[in-house]
Amino acid sequence: MAELEIRNLHVKVEDKQILKGLDLDVEKGKVHALMGPNGSGKSTLANAIMGHPALEVTEGSITFKGEDITEADPNVRSQAGLFMAFQYPVAIPGVSVSKYLRMIINAQREARGEEQIKIKDFAKVAQEAMALANIPKDFSSRYLNDGFSGGEKKRMELLQLVLLRPEIAVLDETDSGLDIDALRVVAEGVNKFAGPDMGVLIITHYQRILHMVKPDFVHVMFEGRIVKEGGPELVGVLEEKGYGWIREEVGAGASA
Ligand SMILES: Nc1ncnc2c1ncn2[C@@H]1O[C@H](COP(=O)(O)OP(=O)(O)O)[C@@H](O)[C@H]1O
Ligand SMILES: [Mg+2]
Repeated sequence: MAELEIRNLHVKVEDKQILKGLDLDVEKGKVHALMGPNGSGKSTLANAIMGHPALEVTEGSITFKGEDITEADPNVRSQAGLFMAFQYPVAIPGVSVSKYLRMIINAQREARGEEQIKIKDFAKVAQEAMALANIPKDFSSRYLNDGFSGGEKKRMELLQLVLLRPEIAVLDETDSGLDIDALRVVAEGVNKFAGPDMGVLIITHYQRILHMVKPDFVHVMFEGRIVKEGGPELVGVLEEKGYGWIREEVGAGASA
């Protein structure tokens, strides 16, 4: 049984039906790539997995580790071990990297009913996390994402990942504006942390990142559903043929 099971998911955004009966399994020990043309609903799926309040699930279910979380709060999902990296991390005025770290740690401790981290423990945890995410020490006094490069922002997401140790991480990397440095950081993070303890669903329109990360499974999304699944060889096929043939195949199937 896969840790994350999505069945017949139908999702509406502002009265528009975006997901139309989507089925997907994501396993903890595996790297899954979700691909598909722009507008096929990839980001909507990521948001549905994390429980974005603007979405309405009209049918179907999301199950995580055997529990139905279709209607669960984003906090509950995060606490259960789901993680989502934000596509557009914002600058938070007045919050240093160090303070941000402490906020993440304490939010997690609070949710577990534990007390706030002690100053001396924090220094050690922060140092370890920053080392794992490859962040230079002198970053801790800088303000979050203020003047950070694309790659540095992605390192901040890795920092979150390192601290939260999710079982399934959803990384929506659809943004075509991601520079090569940012893509490298994401790839490095996936290659370093994906393993028996963490599965990844990496969402991408472009194949560039899949040259640096080898997925175990590839799922292709089209008009709100998964229409094709396979192994890493699918990346090459899509690269060569684009999405047109999928459209034709799906179209042919629908009219048959
Ligand atoms: N907040 C929104 N309000 C209305 N329509 C939306 C909203 N967000 C996304 N959509 C629509 O949902 C469809 C899927 O979008 P999205 O999930 O972002 O696709 P992808 O990530 O695959 O490019 C698109 O047609 C888009 O216009
Ligand atoms: Mg998107």
